[in-house]
Amino acid sequence: MRTGTGTETGTETGTMGAAAGVAVDADVAGAAPEAGVDAGLASAAPETPVDAGLASAAPEAGPGTDIASAAPETPVDADIANATPGAGARLGAQSAPEPASVTETDSERVTALSGGTRGSGALAPLVDTVMDALARGARRRGGPIAPGRPGDVAATVGEVFGGPGAVTGAEALDRLTELLAHGSADPADASCAAHLHCPPLAIAVAADLAVSALNPSQDSWDQAPAATALETLLLQELAALAGYEPEQAAGVLTSGGTESNLMGLMLARDRVLGAASGRQIELTGVPGAGTEGAPRPRILASAAAHFSVQRAAALLGLGEDAVLPVPVDHQLRMDPEALAAVLDGCAERGELPVAVVATAGTTDTGAIDPLRACAALAAEHGAWLHVDAAYGGGALLSDQLAPLLDGLGLADSVSLDWHKLGWQPAAAGVFLVRRSETYASLARRAVYLNPADDEEAGYPSLLGLSLRTTRRADAFKIAVTLRTLGREGLGRLVDACRDLAVSGARAVAEHPRLELHSEPVLTAFLFRYLPERPADTAAGPAAYGARCDAVNAALRRRLLREGSAVVGRTELPGEGPGRVRLKLTLLNPHTTAAEVERLLHAVVAAGRAEEEAR
Ligand SMILES: Cc1ncc(COP(=O)(O)O)c(C=O)c1O
Repeated sequence: MRTGTGTETGTETGTMGAAAGVAVDADVAGAAPEAGVDAGLASAAPETPVDAGLASAAPEAGPGTDIASAAPETPVDADIANATPGAGARLGAQSAPEPASVTETDSERVTALSGGTRGSGALAPLVDTVMDALARGARRRGGPIAPGRPGDVAATVGEVFGGPGAVTGAEALDRLTELLAHGSADPADASCAAHLHCPPLAIAVAADLAVSALNPSQDSWDQAPAATALETLLLQELAALAGYEPEQAAGVLTSGGTESNLMGLMLARDRVLGAASGRQIELTGVPGAGTEGAPRPRILASAAAHFSVQRAAALLGLGEDAVLPVPVDHQLRMDPEALAAVLDGCAERGELPVAVVATAGTTDTGAIDPLRACAALAAEHGAWLHVDAAYGGGALLSDQLAPLLDGLGLADSVSLDWHKLGWQPAAAGVFLVRRSETYASLARRAVYLNPADDEEAGYPSLLGLSLRTTRRADAFKIAVTLRTLGREGLGRLVDACRDLAVSGARAVAEHPRLELHSEPVLTAFLFRYLPERPADTAAGPAAYGARCDAVNAALRRRLLREGSAVVGRTELPGEGPGRVRLKLTLLNPHTTAAEVERLLHAVVAAGRAEEEAR
C-alpha cells in the first residue's frame, strides 16, 4: 500500500541562523595537521617496496598495554583488564605469528557489544587499540600514500589478511587497522589532493563513532527515536541554507551525490512524465517512447555534469541516451544559450524534457552553472530543475562564496554532500526537495516499519523519504559538527581551502613549465605540466598534445609510486589529444600555500623525470 506519508516533514522550525551563532572553538577548527608532509615530498624513496615498509614496522607500545592499563570500573572492564591479548606480533613481522587463538577471556572481549550500559567500557580499550594502530600506520606511511605499485599493496594485504601467517583472533583489530592506515591515501596530508575526498574533522568522526556504537536505523522510529527527530530538524536547517522554505521542503540523508541525483531524477520522471502520460510511472513503469502517445523523455545536463546523471537515467528506465549533453564554456560551465537551443530542439522533435540538471560545482573545475537561467528555462519548458550541488553546496557555508549559488532556492531538488566540502566521513549526502508534495512517488507503507496506526498515533517515519530501508544516522555527525563549529566556523574552513586554491593557481600560472586551465571557482583547479617542445616543429600540435597527455598521465602515476603525492587526473570534454589535465582539489584547510607550492614542484620534478625516461 502506498500513502502520501513521505510528505509530512518540514513542520517544525529551526534555522541555520541558530547554528551560525555558535562560537567557533579555535582548537576544534584548527586541529594540528599531521606532520611529515614535507618529509613525504622531499624524501620519497621510490624504490622502497611496500612490503619492506611494512616488514620494518617497529613494534611499539601495543594495544595490550593500553588494554591492560585501562582502569576497570565495571565487571566487563575487569574482564578486559585481565585479558591477555597477545598482541606482540606486529603487522608484517618477519616470523609468521602463531595463529592467535582466542582465549576464553579474549572471547568475552571480542564478543562484547558496543551498546548498553557496558558498551562504552568494552569499546574504550578497543578504541585505544585503534588509535594506537592508526598512529603507527600513519607514521610508517610518512606521507600521503605508501610508496609502491598496486601489486605490492595487494600482496601485503593478502599476506596479513589471507596468507599462511594471516592475522587471527584478538590481534586482528590492531594489525588490520595498522595495515589500513599504512595503506591509505590520507587526505589529511597536504600532498593528497586529487579528489573530492575530504579529510574528516575529528569531531565528526567522534560523533560517527557514537552512531556506530548505537546503530540507529532511520527506517523506523522504534529503531531511532532521537535520530529520527534530529534528522528532521537538521534537514530543515539545511533546507533554509539552500534557500528553501523549511516548512515546505523535505529531504533525507543519502549515501552521496549519486543517490541524491538518482532520487531527484526519479521524482522528476514520475512527476513530469507522469503528468504527460497520465500514468503513475512508479507503478506502471516507463511507457515506451512513441507508445500510448508518450513522448520520448529527455534529461538535459551539461557536458561536464557528473556521470551519475547517465547512471540514473539508465536505472530509471529512460536509458543513458535520454541524457542530452549541453555544451559548456572554457571553465566547464553550462552555456545557457546552448541549453535554450537544446530545449528548443526537444520541443521541435516532440520530446519531453523531464529534467534539467544544473551542476553547482563540477567535479573537475568547480564551475557553477547559471542557476537562475537554468531555472527559468526549465520552468518555461515544464521540466524539473535538479541542481547537483554535491561539491558546490559547501559554498553555502561561506559568506564570500554563497552568492555564487544564487538561484539555488529555485531548484525543485538539490544534492548536497557533506563528505566533500563539509569535512564529514562518508557517507554524508543530503537530498532536498523544495516542495514536500513532490516527494509523493517514493512514499511507502511497510506494515512492519510504519503502520498507519503508528503514524496516526504520532510516531513519525522517514521510510518514505529514502530509497533505502536500513539507513545509518548520518545526520548525527553533521548535526554535531554544525553545532560545534557553527556555519561561520565551517565557512572559515571553506574560505581557507578557496584561498589555497587561488594561491596554488597563481603559482601554476607563474611557473614556466605549468599551464593553468582556468581560475578556481571553489577549491579546485586543473593544470598540466608542459614538456619540452620537440625540436622537430613539423610534428605539429597533435603530436605535442599527445606527448603532453602521456607525460602528465605518467607523472601522476610516478608520484603515486614514489608515495610523494596524490594528484588528480582528468580529461577536458571534447575529442583528440591534448585534453589530459592534472587536478588539485584542495579540501584540507590546514594545508599552507607553501605546501601546495612544494606539491607543484614535485609535479614538475616528476614531469622532468618522465620526459627523461622516454
Ligand atoms: C558534482 C558531483 N556530483 C555527484 C557526485 C557523486 O557523489 P558521491 O560520490 O557522493 O555519490 C560527485 C562525485 O565526485 C560529484 O563531483
